[in-house]
Amino acid sequence: MSGDSLRSFVHALPKVELHVHLVGSASVDTVLALARRHPAAGVPTDRAELERFYAFRDFDHFLRVYWAVQSMLTDRHDIRLLVTGLAAELARQNVRYAEVTVTPYNHLLDGMAGEELLSGLTEGRALAAVEHGVDLAWCFDIPGEKGVRAGRETLLFALRERPEGLVAFGLGGPEVGVGRAMFEPFFTAAREAGLHSVPHAGETTGPATVWAALHDLGAERIGHGTSATADPALLAYLAEHRIPLEVCPTSNVATRQVPSIAAHPVRRMLDHGVVVTLNTDDPPMFGATLEGEYLAVATELGLGRAELAGLAANAVRASFLGEERKTALLREIEAVAAAR
Ligand code: ADE
Ligand code: ZN
Repeated sequence: MSGDSLRSFVHALPKVELHVHLVGSASVDTVLALARRHPAAGVPTDRAELERFYAFRDFDHFLRVYWAVQSMLTDRHDIRLLVTGLAAELARQNVRYAEVTVTPYNHLLDGMAGEELLSGLTEGRALAAVEHGVDLAWCFDIPGEKGVRAGRETLLFALRERPEGLVAFGLGGPEVGVGRAMFEPFFTAAREAGLHSVPHAGETTGPATVWAALHDLGAERIGHGTSATADPALLAYLAEHRIPLEVCPTSNVATRQVPSIAAHPVRRMLDHGVVVTLNTDDPPMFGATLEGEYLAVATELGLGRAELAGLAANAVRASFLGEERKTALLREIEAVAAAR
């Protein structure tokens, strides 16, 4: 397949994104504009400098940069701008639906009022549907580094406010020194209230963290799960129980968890029958796009058209969309795969 025909095939697949952080989806132009309004944040106002700012030495360095960008968001207008910007970018790539991770506790700590955050999300989500034809759902996640207090506050905020489109409860931030088990009561309560459990695990630590996410947090999907390939019993468990991994190859290279896409364990995950989905995590920060992730695994890991269509279908099945919508999207994917 030529590069052009591969690109048009990937574009034609109706796609679903399951792992993208709202703050990390801020476009370069938006971040530059915010940086000019908030010089104290230390975020560059110049494009070339911002590119250098986004060259991460390691995962902790990435998080510090991410928090600097987050600190510049102050009100509903900022949040709405991010949501509609993300929706426009998703529409450009023929992404029909996304589950977007939002970290309310961090915004509240940074001084944003809860109602500003909620208004921005709700207004942005309505505009995303009407103006861009993209449906968005929310995952509220705990910033793990802030401990059980963040767990409790995130749970209370999620259950008290329960905005339209809130479908999942997550856990992000660093994994090193932040055990999953301490968040068990908050995940149990969130699941009892009908939210799905989608913690990060195995991104920056080993397979024990993925086991903990499964056993302690009732994970229905795993954010990243990169290190699962170090444990054959875990791969077998994930495959048998059809627990999807939200794999983010470019992110893992950018935060230096994996040396290159070619060395990414996604091929091994697939060979063991694990349900793999492709995602971008924090796209402009990593120079990633969802189409780019599909193209990268095709060219660097040798995945063919049928496998790419399979990955797109996995994301639909692993999503928290209703059955009717899933069936319609799966039919569309089949038609695209059959037509080429
Ligand atoms: N927050 C934003 N991006 C993240 C990532 N890749 N892992 C954990 N927390 C995050
Ligand atoms: Zn993430």
